Amino acid sequence: MASKKKYIIGNWKSNNNMSETEEWFELIGKQFKKSRYFPTVNLEIIVCPPFVFLPKAYKLRDKYQLPIKLGAQDVSPFNNGAYTGAVSARMLSNFVEYIIIGHSERRTHFLENDRMLSEKTIRAKENNLEVIYCIPGKDTFIPESIKIVAYEPVWAIGTGKTDTPENADRVASFLKLKHSDRIVVYGGSVNPDNVKDFLIMANIDGVLPGGASLDPNKFWEIILNASTI
Ligand code: PGA
Repeated sequence: MASKKKYIIGNWKSNNNMSETEEWFELIGKQFKKSRYFPTVNLEIIVCPPFVFLPKAYKLRDKYQLPIKLGAQDVSPFNNGAYTGAVSARMLSNFVEYIIIGHSERRTHFLENDRMLSEKTIRAKENNLEVIYCIPGKDTFIPESIKIVAYEPVWAIGTGKTDTPENADRVASFLKLKHSDRIVVYGGSVNPDNVKDFLIMANIDGVLPGGASLDPNKFWEIILNASTI
């Protein structure tokens, strides 16, 4: 299945400031330039900075001609309106193609539940945004319309401990039982050294690194390693 598209989704979480954002894009831009924008047709590279840096990231992506798509880390469950502090899917659709919904940090720290996550999913779809729906386990509720699922066991996030590729593959295969065209990515302590172990598995279509995506050189290595599969 060498020609199947692999997803590399970098989640910055609540990190970086404006100048670090600029540096990140400049550095990754240099790497791409050095490699002569090596064929990335088999890769879907997505980076998800915090909301406030998205307009800048959008400009920098074009400046450095990066084969990278942008994603948001969250979205409001509401349309535009009187919802102080909320960032709507309509606003985001000016800058991103993807939205992460249901990350376990949102579920835990912001008390987001299935109902709210379903509303967020509807808002994203109404605005033609592709959802990357995160679940901590195979039995977590997933809205019907979801095409991309990220399996991220909570204990593997930011801990340096990963699930085994075999188990992640079993979960991915379970998630595809009734939805054979589903894309399933693995997240939880992915880094340049272990990325291939996951990507060689038959049912895993990509990875979602958090910590390792903050360092442009590490993210670059992840991209390079993924490109050789
Ligand atoms: P991590 O985060 O790579 O730092 O473990 C992954 C995630 O939470 O998406």
